[in-house]
Amino acid sequence: MEEIDLSDRRGLIAMAELYNIASTESLAQQNGNSNNNPASHLRHRAMSPSQSDASVRVRKPGETKSSRVICSLNNLLVLLFVFVVILLAAVLFTFLISKYHFGHAAENAQLKNNNQSISSDGSQDNSEEIISETSHGPTAAELRLSKSLIPLWYNLTIKIYVPGFVEIPKEKNLSFDGALTIKIRVDEPTNKIELNSIKLGLPSGLSDYAILEDIPVARHRRQTDDANRTKPKTKNSSEAINDSGEKLPPREPSGVKVVKMTQNETLEKAIFELSDTLKKGQEYYFQFVYTGTIDSKLAGLYLTHYADKNGAQRYAAVTQMEPTDARRMVPCFDEPEFKAVWRLKIIHPVGSSAVSNAKEILENEETEHPDWIYTTFEESLPMSSYLLALCVSDFEFVEGNTKRGTRFRIWSRKEAINETVYALEAGKKVLEFYEDYYNITFPLSKQDMMAFPDFSAGAMENWGLITYREKYLLYNPKVYTPLQKQSVAVVVAHELAHQWFGNLVTMKWWNDLWLNEGFATLMEYKGTDAISDGAFRMDEYFVYDAQDEAFGRDARASSHPLAFPIEKAEDVTEAFDTITYDKGGSVLRMIRAIMGEKYFQKGLTTYLNKYRYSNAEHTDLWNTLSEAVPEGLNDWNGNKFNVDEFAKPWTEQMGYPVVNVRRVDKNRIELSQKRFKIDEDAKEPPKYRNAKWWYKWDVPLWYSVNGEEKPMKWLHE
Ligand code: BES
Ligand code: ZN
Repeated sequence: MEEIDLSDRRGLIAMAELYNIASTESLAQQNGNSNNNPASHLRHRAMSPSQSDASVRVRKPGETKSSRVICSLNNLLVLLFVFVVILLAAVLFTFLISKYHFGHAAENAQLKNNNQSISSDGSQDNSEEIISETSHGPTAAELRLSKSLIPLWYNLTIKIYVPGFVEIPKEKNLSFDGALTIKIRVDEPTNKIELNSIKLGLPSGLSDYAILEDIPVARHRRQTDDANRTKPKTKNSSEAINDSGEKLPPREPSGVKVVKMTQNETLEKAIFELSDTLKKGQEYYFQFVYTGTIDSKLAGLYLTHYADKNGAQRYAAVTQMEPTDARRMVPCFDEPEFKAVWRLKIIHPVGSSAVSNAKEILENEETEHPDWIYTTFEESLPMSSYLLALCVSDFEFVEGNTKRGTRFRIWSRKEAINETVYALEAGKKVLEFYEDYYNITFPLSKQDMMAFPDFSAGAMENWGLITYREKYLLYNPKVYTPLQKQSVAVVVAHELAHQWFGNLVTMKWWNDLWLNEGFATLMEYKGTDAISDGAFRMDEYFVYDAQDEAFGRDARASSHPLAFPIEKAEDVTEAFDTITYDKGGSVLRMIRAIMGEKYFQKGLTTYLNKYRYSNAEHTDLWNTLSEAVPEGLNDWNGNKFNVDEFAKPWTEQMGYPVVNVRRVDKNRIELSQKRFKIDEDAKEPPKYRNAKWWYKWDVPLWYSVNGEEKPMKWLHE
């Protein structure tokens, strides 16, 4: 598409200036007021200073006025002298800047040499060429994993050295040991396994990695028959048994070996080069042990702490994986599309308990060491790595069951356990509500929700184990305001909405994050009403709350389209903002209003069933919703309403229209639309300047004449 500067295309500058001056006051007021909005304390999503500044820049009259300059010979000489001085200064400046830049490039190169590589001859190669040594960092493609290998399941045993429970050897304190098997399917032949991994200690001996395969059934039967004939009857040692007593299929070395291992911290990958090619269609088991450290920065597996009632420090280890921090705890295929089943065994100190996504099978079992116990968990459902969660703590819980028998537990530190009662009631109620709304039974046998003193987000929707900041889960009517009660309800409703939309069906890639968060935002209003039996009247509040927030942000040139390419997973953190949540929710609400709730809901159920345990893109939702559009619902052109076509201008370009109404005569009015910008002069970032749809939208209009409601009409153009 050609590069066009839309600020030149407007041709409305004079009018816009007039409009801006006239509307500055009322708009500034409107924006300032949004902070009084009772639920806006929840909308703490990252805001840049320009976003939070509600003032409007208005050019002062005469600001650009130029003055006449009279020039004499003396003046000319002075000017020439000044010019030469500036030129010399510029040369010196350029020299210093280049020196500084190249100095840093050299430092960067050194830093990157921290990437370690170990070859089969045992040599360590620290001068890996691994990534292009430009100052721009790796490309988006380099950061992605190939689709040649697909993880089917992970079996992870993890021993977590959380302090404060038992004596821990100094060198082990705040670390963890992992033993991992990944079952991998080969979709394209390859002689390389790439896993995401950050700051994990992988074995340096290449013989510590095993690549196994199943023993073909016929051969295995023959071998065991032979063994049984020749040996006295004892328990067959070739048959592995798992923690639930099930027989594991027999495996043998595949003959493929790891010949080189490179840990590239820049690409956040561990790369294993193999002696042979993994065969297409085959399944392999990749096995190794590793170590890691419990993080101190609220990412991956991190340490959280609090003071108990005696003022003593207590510790717990908990995870926060979204968007890309699972790779800090376990080497894995850390992209949302690689859904896999997780089987976990957690070895934890005596006095602690372990919780994870799935229900426990064996709890607090003895190990051979008296200080350590273990807990095993059922297999998770197939899920994305960003939803993986575990916690080792001395927390307590309250428990209940939903009508359909889902075990529901709310966990907190001991001192706060009486403040969990509201969340338990709220959680059960809204889970039952969503089962009815989505018309899909909650797919897990249990749901845990835990409150943490340190937590980076407000809450996180890990499947079966939702984690919260304390203030969004705990409620004590004697101490907290009704508004805090409301925010607990809102956050619980939001995270439980994700258990279907987001967890059961997950976005293929992070560019559709807005759909995930926008949808949960839409549902949190209905969910909160279900929790409060309508008392909070949250659904009515959507326009004043979420939509108004979205308007405030999206009226600025610094906004961005809802859908924009996210090439690097690391960029996704920036996308968690008001546009993603509130505009996302508002656009979905508009689609719901156009279709009618009944049809929207039906389409949603079809979508969730069609893509369950799998991934989808926004177009998949639009197409499924379009199939649910009722007969007679047409677009502006008289064709059957198509959600994809309608949604594009609303999601692919930033901003929104303001509709002007002009009375033509006694019986007629004329409507027109124009993008609403709080400052007409402010320019969009160049990458969004070419609005794909010329800042026009199809606007559904609901209106009434003399109190009589009329059918919806379209404003196109
Ligand atoms: N998935 C998010 C949590 C999250 C946010 C993870 C940013 C990683 C980065 C969760 O569903 C969420 O939206 N939490 C909100 C609370 C909610 C009630 C608005 C949050 O943390 O702001
Ligand atoms: Zn969310």
